Amino acid sequence: MSIEKKLKELKKKREQARLGGGLPKIEVQHKKGKLTARERLDLLLDEGSFEEFDMFMLHRCSDFGLDKQRIFGDAVVTGYGTIDGRLVFVFSQDFTTFGGSLSEAHSEKICKIMDMAMKIGAPVIGLNDSGGARIQEGVVSLGAYANIFLRNTLTSGVVPQISVILGPCAGGAVYSPAITDFILMVKGTSYMFVTGPSVVKTVTHEEVTHEQLGGPEVHSTRSGVAHFVGETEAETILLTRKLFNFIPLNNMEDPPEQECTDPADRMDEELNFIVPDEAAKPYDMKEVIKRVVDNKDFLEVHKDYAQNLVVGFARLGGKPVGIIANQPAVLAGVLDINSSIKGARFVRFCDAFNIPLVVFEDVPGFLPGTAQEFGGIIKHGAKLLYAFCEATVPRLTVITRKAYGGAYDVMNSKHIRGDINYGWPTAEIAVMGPKGAVEIIFKKEITESPDPEKATNEKLKEFVEKFANPFIAAERGYLDDVIEPRETRPRLIKALSMLETKKDTNPPKKHGNIPL
Ligand code: HXC
Repeated sequence: MSIEKKLKELKKKREQARLGGGLPKIEVQHKKGKLTARERLDLLLDEGSFEEFDMFMLHRCSDFGLDKQRIFGDAVVTGYGTIDGRLVFVFSQDFTTFGGSLSEAHSEKICKIMDMAMKIGAPVIGLNDSGGARIQEGVVSLGAYANIFLRNTLTSGVVPQISVILGPCAGGAVYSPAITDFILMVKGTSYMFVTGPSVVKTVTHEEVTHEQLGGPEVHSTRSGVAHFVGETEAETILLTRKLFNFIPLNNMEDPPEQECTDPADRMDEELNFIVPDEAAKPYDMKEVIKRVVDNKDFLEVHKDYAQNLVVGFARLGGKPVGIIANQPAVLAGVLDINSSIKGARFVRFCDAFNIPLVVFEDVPGFLPGTAQEFGGIIKHGAKLLYAFCEATVPRLTVITRKAYGGAYDVMNSKHIRGDINYGWPTAEIAVMGPKGAVEIIFKKEITESPDPEKATNEKLKEFVEKFANPFIAAERGYLDDVIEPRETRPRLIKALSMLETKKDTNPPKKHGNIPL
């Protein structure tokens, strides 16, 4: 065959491969409001940067008539490209071919890019849209999934992994995204569950739709499985690009700095007046965060889940930081089971990938009650404590108001290796809130007093004067300084810059035993 003919054949094969399951199936995909695997990659990656592998890969199954249906690529497009010039490995499942289901060959393609990502030190982004294990391949497809799970686990903490769910994700298939660092879902067309509505009906007699069981709302507000939700596929993919721009390529690199257009010495006068005079009055900690970080740009993670703790990425002086903040506007900023788990996972991601931690603290303590105790607040709260204790990245804390009880220790205190701890003049650091404290330590005086209310108020005044300020902690060096709220941004930027070469380690061990 002449070279011309060979080139023509190659071109024809490529065109065929690019069509996946074929035009009618692409039309169905579009009618559902979904993009194809390749259209999604076009949105995710820099224009012209995608280099594809294994375009001609075929499955090897001949059962149930599959030998007559071999489609180039076998339901997944894989390769590498760039996002704003930074390398990333990708896979994008093609629902138009066998419903994006995972065969042995499909899995081999994904494993190939994961192995390369590990060797080279670049993140992996998976665009998931799949009916799960290729039913016709039986146990082979289960083994094929396990090959991915193993790599997800070994890769964890070495290169970042992001899962974008853009269609079905059911059965054991959910466990690959679950092991990765971030899950993004899209409204309307994505869902995740271990067993679908029909099995649920048989087992528990509950009647639920796909959406009610595992749609993005459930996972972003109730289960906490999803970290981000986009209105459309395009928005979800752009969110993925934004997230990618805060994180380093691997655990040996620093996160990507950007030129800072917001002056590092910018003060914010409003911050001096943001904490209300009344201790029980809420205010929005996100407002504090936005006033401090570069250009008010804060990418909140888990925005709709456990809102009493706010976590997310921002930059200070151009350098990415992970922010963890109590939110006095929700449940008074108390720590509970869900917020502890949310915070712990975020702290560990940042620590694994060299992203400094900045804590804004206003916390009345851990949430009391049987629901919390029976639910295991002891072990879940310990996760957050453990995560902070083991973190070796630069760690900054600003106590804006309350730092009560065990929550004071947990929220990146000096004692657990906080590097720079500042208090605003409004900071109150105590074992518990003044009212509870007075009722315990002056119980006798109050009950024996002819006017218990007056006695309580007097003792309260005394207690507040003594403890409701940052100076006792500052006297002992638990706070490095008491700062004016308006100067928070410049002080944090200076501290981060000073800490740039910080080195800290944990004792050698196989791995710790975080309370799970
Ligand atoms: C082989 C599959 C498939 C699968 C879908 N298809 N899922 N082929 N294996 N798992 C095929 C369909 O036969 C169909 O082929 C095409 O993909 C599109 O599927 P439809 O059903 O027409 O699409 P839709 O109506 O949108 O429904 C999508 C769906 C449904 C909800 C995903 O297909 C479905 O329920 N599939 C099975 C899901 C499932 O139970 N998977 C196993 C989960 S357990 P044609 O040729 O007609 O176009 C699992 C274990 C993982 O994955 C193990 C890890 C340890």
